[in-house]
Formats: sequence, structure tokens, C-alpha cells
Amino acid sequence: MYTVDGVETVGVVGAGTMGAGIAQVAATAGYDVVMRDVETEFVEDGLDRIDDSLGRLVSRESLTEATAAAARRRIDGTTDLADLGDADLVVEAVLEQMDVKQDVFASLDEITPEGAVLATNTSTLSVTTIAAATERPGDVVGLHFMNPVPVMEGVEVVRAETTADPTVSLVDDFADSLDKTTWESADRPGFVVNRVLIPWVCEGIRAYDEGVASKEDVDTGLKLGTNAPMGPLELGDHIGLDVVLDAAETLHDELGDKYRPPVLLERKVDAGHLGKKTGCGFYDYAE
Ligand code: CAA
Repeated sequence: MYTVDGVETVGVVGAGTMGAGIAQVAATAGYDVVMRDVETEFVEDGLDRIDDSLGRLVSRESLTEATAAAARRRIDGTTDLADLGDADLVVEAVLEQMDVKQDVFASLDEITPEGAVLATNTSTLSVTTIAAATERPGDVVGLHFMNPVPVMEGVEVVRAETTADPTVSLVDDFADSLDKTTWESADRPGFVVNRVLIPWVCEGIRAYDEGVASKEDVDTGLKLGTNAPMGPLELGDHIGLDVVLDAAETLHDELGDKYRPPVLLERKVDAGHLGKKTGCGFYDYAE
């Protein structure tokens, strides 16, 4: 593990599943991390998630106890965005809502030092539109981690229309320092991964809903038929069905009818059956 020259402090905005995962891997690589969410309770939940995940990595001997403890000590939680004032790199992982993200970026533009790189973990929204909320769009880039962040090797780098080359190089180096592998996408809806993955999940839901196969057989077919680690319904539950629906709606708005979300997905979200995080989605996780 190494850290990138000129990057000592990493700010993470949002302490949900993705934000906490990003804070964890950055701290494990040796960066000082300030993780911010709007409520103390959300920050504490994020820190608990990090403790659990570090514990899992220690128990399967991927990390030593000393490394995990050192990583944990490098993470500070806060509810005050101004505490990211010393960050050399910020990764934003808040709600997938353009107005919320633009507000965060407008504030980060004022708070962070000149030259700090501002990255968004958005899964489908336009990075160029997010960057337009700042006076320094050249410093803004997409850095799209995959869930679960501590386990998944890949990170998608999204070059907005306005992103400067040194910004792309810096986040490439940063991802490399986290032991991740990157690929680059243009700023188009869903980038590479979600443009393909979200319709895959939606088509699995439609196949089940139309009676082509049971949910188990849809998942088994796609798992064994393509060597994927999870079938589409299982993966939807893992990602969160609300997140899948948001992404599908963005793809549908921007790319047209073939990306229309399935009605069953909408009904699951209406019912609050969002997948693993609520204990129930297509499958039951109560136990
Ligand atoms: N922290 C630390 N370790 C974790 C972890 C976490 N959050 N989650 C899982 N692990 C570890 C487990 O401890 C386990 O370790 P061992 O193999 O040493 O026992 C290992 O990862 C595998 O976990 P499990 O045994 O629980 O289960 P699994 O073998 O089914 O693997 C999985 C779980 C890694 C999630 C695997 O099923 C998988 O890769 N699924 C696909 C995930 C995927 O596609 N993610 C991308 C979603 S798309 C996205 O994120 C983009 C977006 O914008 C929507």
C-alpha cells in the first residue's frame, strides 16, 4: 500500500454504504479521512459499518488487527462540511439527486483548498452537470466505486466534458493506491457499468414477473449460465431496489423507452421492500 503524493487528507461526503466503504478503503491505504453526513446518527451508523467490515477482513486474515485498528484511527466522523476544509481529495456519495449533489459541490468549491480534486460517486447522473455547480469544473470527476467497496476491485472513472487531464490522472493514481483497477467512461447516462447492469437486473425482474421462470431459476440461470456471482434479482436486492429504480429512471429519461423500469420494481419500492437493507426484497433476509 502507498499514498499518492499531495494527497494526505481525503474527505468523504455521505456515510451510507458507499461512503463508509470509500472512507474505509482510503483509511486502510494510509490516508487521513474525514467522513461527513448530515446527522450524527448517520455518521455513527457509517462508523459501525466500517467496524463490521474491518472485523470481517481481520477474521478472514485479509488485514491484521493492527492495520485495521490504524485504519479506524485515521477516520474522523463529522456533521460539519467545513471540517473537509483540509481535504486534498473529496469523494461525494450522497443521495442520487442532482439538486442535492449540486448543493454539496457548490459548498465544497468554497470550502476546499484550490486544486483539491472533487469526485462524485454518482452511479448514473451527469458528472458535467454536477461540475457546473462549481467555479472549477476542471477539478471535478466521476469516481464510481462498486458495492461492497472493500471487496470489489473495479472503480469507474468518469471524465466529464470539463474534467482536466491531471484530475483524471490523480484519481487513477488514487484508485491504484487503494489496490483498485480503473476503467474510463465518458459522461453518458449510466456510464459503462450501469448502462449495461441496470437493464440486466430489470430484465431479470421482468422475466420473473412475466412467469418465464421462478425468481430462483432466473438467478440460477444467470449465475450458472454466465458465471456471474449473483443473479439479477439477488443483485437487485444487494444493490438496493430503490437505487436500481433511481438508476433505471435516469436511464429511461435520458436514453428512451427500452430502459423503462419494470412495474414490479416500482411496486417493490412502493412497498418499502428494498432488498437486504430492509430485510426483504425479492428474497427474505429476516434471518
Ligand atoms: N466488507 C468486508 N468483507 C466483505 C464485505 C464487506 N462489506 N462483503 C463481503 N465481504 C467478504 C466476506 O467476508 C467473504 O470473505 P471470505 O470469502 O474470505 O469468506 C467474501 O467477501 C465473500 O462474501 P460472502 O461469502 O458473504 O458471499 P459471496 O461469496 O457471495 O460474496 C459478494 C459476496 C462479494 C458481494 C459477491 O456475491 C459478489 O461479488 N457479488 C456481486 C457484487 C456486484 O456485482 N457488485 C456491483 C454492484 S453494481 C454497483 O455497485 C454499482 C452501482 O452503481 C449500482
